[in-house]
Amino acid sequence: MTENWHFTHVAKFKKRKGLDAFLDVAEGLAGGTIGARSRRGGVLGMLFFEPSTRTRMSFTAAAGRLGMTVNDLGGDGVSSKSKGESDEDTVLNVAQYCDAMVVRHADDWFASKVAEETKTPVICGGAGKRSHPTQALLDLMTVRQCQRRLDHLSWVICGDLARGRTVKSLLGLLRLCDGIRVTLVNPPDLGLETSDIDHAKTRMDVRVVPCLAEACHGADVVYMTRMQKERPLDQHGQPAGVVDYSDCFRMTKECLGNLPADAIVMHPGPCGPEITDECKADGRNVILKQARNGMFARQALLDAVVARDQKEWWSWFGDA
Ligand code: NCD
Repeated sequence: MTENWHFTHVAKFKKRKGLDAFLDVAEGLAGGTIGARSRRGGVLGMLFFEPSTRTRMSFTAAAGRLGMTVNDLGGDGVSSKSKGESDEDTVLNVAQYCDAMVVRHADDWFASKVAEETKTPVICGGAGKRSHPTQALLDLMTVRQCQRRLDHLSWVICGDLARGRTVKSLLGLLRLCDGIRVTLVNPPDLGLETSDIDHAKTRMDVRVVPCLAEACHGADVVYMTRMQKERPLDQHGQPAGVVDYSDCFRMTKECLGNLPADAIVMHPGPCGPEITDECKADGRNVILKQARNGMFARQALLDAVVARDQKEWWSWFGDA
């Protein structure tokens, strides 16, 4: 029996073979070798307390491909939040109408907390600065398709690592891979916390360099991220938006010149000035492929959750 049907953290994957099994299903759906099963009658709740394009629309598309109905809370002006209802009460009430819910919230722990209070499966669609587990799945799906492997890859991860949540979930899944080298590049004061770096170092080679162009030599994957201007830099006491990207943190012509021909450039979106026009036009840019893969990765997850498919669930999240 499953302990629960929530998916709020990548640590739910305990073994590499579970991650591989999940990616097999997502890739099978993308490639058409696995036919979509119908989950007609299923209802997916969408509770986005922060803006979203890719996560929201790919979950909606995934649910549509399964024949499900999507019940979207809508923005603040539409729901009873405008009457003072708490976000937690909102989720627990909406849970009564759904077979699964996608929850995005600015609080790092909101989705995990509500998951403890409801039996309706909660899927984290982005948790504050801390976690974005389905994004990490579609990221690794894209890497496996493009590079034909997940092990022994040299990653460059660049941008606002302090406030970006995708990178933390990505590093969580990379723990299941062997021979990973990670080069971190970030503006001053926007690096990962020392505890996160130390934790990563227990499973992979990690170095920090000051400039992207230098880091691009020999990289297999460059994972770019945007400046998270809407999030206050609380730990440093600086107001949001005072720091901007210099060329050191943009995928410039020089960076592209240093990057091996078979490398790929990724970005979770939305892209800012860090993705230059030269990068947009470069064949190594797989950003739209990531966006599309999001639909299939989320479809794979939703399918198993809504069907309460124990066999599939354990093949991903079991520890045997
Ligand atoms: C990310 C998010 O919202 O966490 N986008 C996404 O879901 N694809 C990244 C971001 O906002 O920078």
